[in-house]
Amino acid sequence: MNIHVPRGTEDLLPEATRKWQVIEERLNHLAQLYNYKEIRTPIFERTELFQRGVGDTTDIVQKEMYTFEDRGGRSLTLRPEGTASVARAYVQHKIHGSPDQPTKLYYMGPMFRYERPQQGRTRQFTQFGIEAIGSASPAIDAEVMAFAMDCYQALGLKSLKLVLNSLGDQESRQAHRNALIEHFKPVKDELCQDCQSRLEKNPLRLLDCKVDQDHDAMKTAPSILDHLNEESSTYFEEVKRHLDEMEIPYVVDDTLVRGLDYYTHTAFEIMSEAEGFGSITTLSGGGRYSGLIEELGGPSISGIGFALSIERLIMALDAEEIELEQDESVDAYVIAIGQESKYKASDIVYKLRKNGIKVDQDYLDKKVKGQFKAADRLSATYAIILGEEELEQGVANVKNLKTGDQKTIEFDQMTDEIKAGF
Ligand code: HAM
Repeated sequence: MNIHVPRGTEDLLPEATRKWQVIEERLNHLAQLYNYKEIRTPIFERTELFQRGVGDTTDIVQKEMYTFEDRGGRSLTLRPEGTASVARAYVQHKIHGSPDQPTKLYYMGPMFRYERPQQGRTRQFTQFGIEAIGSASPAIDAEVMAFAMDCYQALGLKSLKLVLNSLGDQESRQAHRNALIEHFKPVKDELCQDCQSRLEKNPLRLLDCKVDQDHDAMKTAPSILDHLNEESSTYFEEVKRHLDEMEIPYVVDDTLVRGLDYYTHTAFEIMSEAEGFGSITTLSGGGRYSGLIEELGGPSISGIGFALSIERLIMALDAEEIELEQDESVDAYVIAIGQESKYKASDIVYKLRKNGIKVDQDYLDKKVKGQFKAADRLSATYAIILGEEELEQGVANVKNLKTGDQKTIEFDQMTDEIKAGF
């Protein structure tokens, strides 16, 4: 029996990886523009980190983690997201003590969730995310949302919607929580099993339930925005004011709750509005977290961030029919005729590469015609033709395949002439 990739994972073959590299380059570049620095954390962490960081009552922790015991009997988990790991590293390395504040970090890499695979939802996926820790200024909330939108706009995407909500501070959340419990208690028996148990532990999560989403009680559920205390309400107004000034359009949706427990104040998602995008329209999500750093043993400092998955970003590019420019061509292709020429070809190819020229040659013992075809397939600009006769004279015939111009070039002039172009 042939062995295939595990369910919910995929191979990226060279046609795909080139596109990925282009995207990764653009995202890295954006991170430079916004002055975020890269952090790389382990793919697996102690299970406790996610239980405490992401939250015990979330779907991620309850149903979706790849948790295993290592040979030393430790419980480890493949990271389902990046924020908890970044917060752990921030505390562990006492980054709050550094003079560069706020700390602005980004990361890119595989995440793992045991979910039911479908288009746009896989068990291994790649997140690009950022975390700005150490500032409670509404301006940085707006910066993070601007960055998130730019990740798509920089690649040419247009059909985007920024959806925004405030989950308020502890006091506001508590007031809202009480109101939710009051509201749903009378209809508790009509709700799904998950919601029944969520009602006491984490009633906010009810608003995110796919099973009960059409229940009448959902439509009349108390809004967090009616329970924000003055401070939270002012904060939210200021975040919106920054977005308005930056002319970044958004819609406020008071049912946006997000699937992770650490959020307070600002929460947002970016959706694709492209036709034919598929049923999962969320491209990315993020928000502010006020208790996470402290929960992990750090100071009482809040952060804000977001993450997108590159898989969904590519779906959005496909839906909007955006082709990314990918240059697969080579500068030159060396065509060797006869055994002696092949030795020289290896030498020329090696030296040209050392000088930054992208070049290849034949390794299949093709006839001259086949070698020209290979040069053509690689869209080579120059064919460097090495015959026995030329070899003796220390030269090669070089043909510009785009213009048809030819030139005889001495071996030791090759790099300079190709670089100068003709
Ligand atoms: P999240 O909403 O769980 O947030 O995930 C962020 C993004 O990761 C989603 O919007 C989606 O693009 C992608 N994603 C999640 N699960 C899958 C999957 N199974 N397959 C493909 N893509 C997926 C977080 O992870 C937070 N850590 C974001 C954050 C950073 N909040 C603050 N800072």
